[in-house]
Amino acid sequence: MTIKPIRKAVFPVAGLGTRFLPATKAMPKEMLTVVDKPLIQYAVEEALEAGIEQIIFVTGRGKGALEDHFDISFELETTMRARGKSLSVIENIRQQPGSPVYVRQQEPLGLGHAVWCAREIVGDEPFAVLLPDELMVGTPNFMAQMVAAYNEVGGNVIGALEVAPEDTDKYGIISPGARDGALTEVAALVEKPAKGSAPSNLMIPGRYILQPEVMRILDAKETGAGGEIQLTDAMAKLIGKQPFHGFTFNGERFDCGDKTGFIMANLALALDRADIGPAVRAFAKARVG
Ligand code: UTP
Repeated sequence: MTIKPIRKAVFPVAGLGTRFLPATKAMPKEMLTVVDKPLIQYAVEEALEAGIEQIIFVTGRGKGALEDHFDISFELETTMRARGKSLSVIENIRQQPGSPVYVRQQEPLGLGHAVWCAREIVGDEPFAVLLPDELMVGTPNFMAQMVAAYNEVGGNVIGALEVAPEDTDKYGIISPGARDGALTEVAALVEKPAKGSAPSNLMIPGRYILQPEVMRILDAKETGAGGEIQLTDAMAKLIGKQPFHGFTFNGERFDCGDKTGFIMANLALALDRADIGPAVRAFAKARVG
């Protein structure tokens, strides 16, 4: 089996972000900031650091701020230059001409459908998927660790993280086979299993390395849990046909699509910063007592 390199990453960013209203009424959820950087930038940096070359955004209406974030900001740059201010914090965000690639998901029909919208750009090669509302913190980063694991075993590699047993009905869950270090064979997958019926407490976080055949399964546009076209259901159909592993990340995950996770991410990253960490720590200590 030849293991093709992972060159492309798909970022589904066409969701409505209803859990974060009213913040996300006119602003994309993926532009919410953790300390001073929007979520989308953390995810794009994670992919680029992992060696990915082509960034593909699946966007929808009202997501223009995402496109602008990776472009030149003419007024801002001209004014900052005239005032002698350093542009380093914004210059490194700008991508190469022709990148990122943007495709459109006209209706938010589900994560599987969003990924399928990138099928023409992905073509016939394996690809990564990163959900930017999940912020992963670790060294090397999550996608870099996954790419290294994929380069050993090939096939499909998805994240596999333990959650509290009472929370399994909120996630895609892995039915695990044999374990070998950070890798677990995936025997089956189920999206949001009913309470008490989960095959394990290993959830699938928002990081995936998938073979292009998943697009052919998504062509059928079958709906699953919540009436959405689920990526989990399409991935499940690859099990047994291709190698399929879960990868346990050595690091921390923050679900920033949820208010509590978002606040925790801000606190954790702020406390780690040399510039603002001491002031935030003193404030938090005084507040919490
Ligand atoms: P979520 O399940 O968090 O959905 O999607 P959401 O609609 O963004 O948020 P809530 O639940 O209403 O608050 C996970 C990721 O998949 C993308 C989202 O943008 C997010 O990055 N997504 C989801 C799409 O791009 N299209 C979809 O149809 C669904």
